[in-house]
Amino acid sequence: MSLETNKAFAAVLTAGISFMVAGLVGGIVVHPQRLEKPAIATGEVVEAAAPAAAPALEPIAPLLASASVEDGRALAGRVCAACHSFNEGGRNAVGPNLYGVVGGPHAHREDFNYSAGMKGLHDKTWDYEALNAFLNKPAAAVPGTRMAFAGLNQTKQRADVIAYLRSLSANPVPLP
Ligand code: HEC
Repeated sequence: MSLETNKAFAAVLTAGISFMVAGLVGGIVVHPQRLEKPAIATGEVVEAAAPAAAPALEPIAPLLASASVEDGRALAGRVCAACHSFNEGGRNAVGPNLYGVVGGPHAHREDFNYSAGMKGLHDKTWDYEALNAFLNKPAAAVPGTRMAFAGLNQTKQRADVIAYLRSLSANPVPLP
């Protein structure tokens, strides 16, 4: 082979190898991103074979009877009290007072300036599963919400906090 032919051959080889390497690297970079999306959406580890749609949230109702109001109170004191008060007649802050919210309508306080997204759901009741979805991922459950909180991704934490919210009433909504 002449020198020129050799050069041309080497060039073709190099291009081919670069192409393959780019393909491999691309595969490595892109593949885990595909898996991460549903994992972030649900806060749970999703298996590689799982369908693209986010799995449904485990219902919270069956867990409420054994949930801990005390753990919920402590957790709410740590993470929710920055924006909410919980006592009867308590003041609205960054977020609305939450006394009596369970069983009430979305946007349950007349004297709080809710987002349009929350106000638009006013004819919907804050039942246990609505609270479960909202506390899991506020922005996904109520698009446009002004509650700047990522969510509680542990089922037990949501059960405890919802059991605590339920207790904030003279006549708590019956357990399911
Ligand atoms: C960074 C501030 C902030 C934190 C932290 C926060 N919230 Fe909120 N929350 C808000 C705001 C603001 C709203 C009103 C949302 C809207 O209008 O869209 C709200 C609304 C709500 C509502 C609906 C009230 C209604 O009247 O419809 C519930 C229930 C609620 N929050 C529970 C919680 C719980 C439980 C926690 C802790 C796990 C928490 N929030 C943490 C700011 C916060």
